[in-house]
Amino acid sequence: MNILHELRTRFERVLADYSPEPAALAQQIRAAQDARFGDYQANFAMALAKSRGVNPQELAREIAAKVDLSDLCEPPEVAGPGFINLRLLSRWITTESNHQARDPRCGVDAVARPLKVIVDYSSPNVAKPMHVGHLRSSVIGDALYRILRYLGHDVVSDNHIGDWGTQFGMIIYGYKHFLDQTAYDANPVGELARLYRLVNQLESYHEAVAALAGLKDRLGVAERAHAAAKAEPNPADKKAQEQRKKQLKQLATEETTLRDEVASAEKKVAAVEGNPALFELARRHPKIAEEARLETARLHSGDAENTRLWNRFMPECLAALNRMYDRLGIRFDMALGESHYQPALAAVVDDLKQKGLAVDSDGAVCVFIPGVDAPFIVRKRDGAFTYATTDLATIRDRVDRLGTNLVLYVVDARQGDHFKLLFETAQRWGYVKVDLRHVSFGTILGDDRRPYKTRSGDVVGLESLIDEAVARARRIVDENDERKTAGGDLDDASRQKIAEAVGIGAIKYADLSQNRETDYIFNWDKMLALTGDTATYMQYAYARVCGIVRKGEIDRESLRGGTAQIQLEHPAERALALQLLRFHEALDGVAIDFRPNVLTNWLFETANRFSTFFENCPVLKAETESLKQSRLLLADLTARCLERGLSLLGIETIERM
Ligand code: ARG
Repeated sequence: MNILHELRTRFERVLADYSPEPAALAQQIRAAQDARFGDYQANFAMALAKSRGVNPQELAREIAAKVDLSDLCEPPEVAGPGFINLRLLSRWITTESNHQARDPRCGVDAVARPLKVIVDYSSPNVAKPMHVGHLRSSVIGDALYRILRYLGHDVVSDNHIGDWGTQFGMIIYGYKHFLDQTAYDANPVGELARLYRLVNQLESYHEAVAALAGLKDRLGVAERAHAAAKAEPNPADKKAQEQRKKQLKQLATEETTLRDEVASAEKKVAAVEGNPALFELARRHPKIAEEARLETARLHSGDAENTRLWNRFMPECLAALNRMYDRLGIRFDMALGESHYQPALAAVVDDLKQKGLAVDSDGAVCVFIPGVDAPFIVRKRDGAFTYATTDLATIRDRVDRLGTNLVLYVVDARQGDHFKLLFETAQRWGYVKVDLRHVSFGTILGDDRRPYKTRSGDVVGLESLIDEAVARARRIVDENDERKTAGGDLDDASRQKIAEAVGIGAIKYADLSQNRETDYIFNWDKMLALTGDTATYMQYAYARVCGIVRKGEIDRESLRGGTAQIQLEHPAERALALQLLRFHEALDGVAIDFRPNVLTNWLFETANRFSTFFENCPVLKAETESLKQSRLLLADLTARCLERGLSLLGIETIERM
């Protein structure tokens, strides 16, 4: 049961006599921040009293008296300016806990009206190696997929892989000109990645060479403007001073940005010119960017040779992706990919034109959304369809064929403008009933607050990131185990299995516990800490329960099947039991705005309350047998909720750590 929802519903019935918007008022019932004031608190009386011109305390008392809460709460108390404090009956918590302790769904009922949901996530552009940037979408998307499904919705995960983009032209060009056949035979994806990087490097080299003189000129201008502004005397007036400060800051930023751009272009030039073999390749392929684009165009128009190559590369690329997903414990229901929608694109553009939504503009076909400057290009001047066209065709398919009500696009915040235009266009196109959401997220940063890179400045490959996480976790597991008894309790295979769960769990949890919209700094020590808001801490809490059960030689199934009853005597027992009952509330909380950190917050609080319980309430040495049974059952329920909560985040638990 969702307690918060239950309380809100009961208040709402009474509030309907006081306001045309009772639900909005009931939203102001929240979990209490401070247990001294009860378990929940209602704050609506102040604003409501003001609008009605009455005394808030009296109004609060009047409403509290009318709401039927007698089976659920102690008589409500009105405090301060008109807060209604609600304290659940311990008797009620006890009954509910005993029910939850034997409920295989841990007290979470399935929704009455399931939605048909598609979670579009991970969606990497294939034929390029996966890197740290793909982590967030994969991890957040997978958690949302699991949670919505657990809540009872009809959810399909779709990996909308980029298997039709310009990178293929680059790889095909590379394959035709620079292939190392032996390397390809040994490791096709590794060689394709090398070809992609090589073509990319040569393209950027020519681009940098072409841009450098202009960039330097602009830097010169910016430097002079900045110096001149600095040389001016500081005005006497305070306001003018502020303004000058602002202006100087802006000029400084402009200068730094340009200096960075020059440096980056120079670096690209030097990297090629400093390497005679590369320099030679660059000289022999001056038009590489254009020619790679042509290869893409040929692929798109059905050229036999390029189609053959595409068909050869794809299975290799997909196999490499799947190896990564296996390792991360991620599984997709569909992976249709951009190529799947290609046959439908022409009809999409025709339909948009026919409906007067898309118009010819400079040879391209665009949708213009009032109030937005950028056009939504659905066909380029050269006739090519775009990422946008594909996304529109995908919506059509997802709604018309699959009957979807809700689509979550778990994609980087930098694509915000694309999705804004996409959703507006889809709506005007007639897709008004489907709820389209961009579940956007920020960037993973390094210690220098810039996008996370390796020491040599390359993007961090996902595979090596996972390897490092597991290696670091392994060191912790070894140390920990050896501290227990000389030589340790665990064999090598068990240690490695724990290290996989801990290492991968740490990476996932660190990501999921952030407010998804903010950037966060990647920090190994923090994410692997044994205490604090980390996966490791939750995994330890789980293993601790398993340890107690092992020591007491308890069979958890029989415990649940038996007559044990949870009794709540100690405040730590009550606090823990109530927290566990709030599991459903936490999962519903995730679904409101698709924020997995609502669940990690719940897990952290649960592990903390368990820790307090464990310190204060002896389990195996409880004073009476019935108390021992009660505490064992509560510990078992805690373990089940932790295990379930972590598994809904895609994180494994282990019984022995
Ligand atoms: N392949 C795209 C990229 O790597 C992400 C696709 C997201 N999904 C979508 N339906 N547009 O940027």
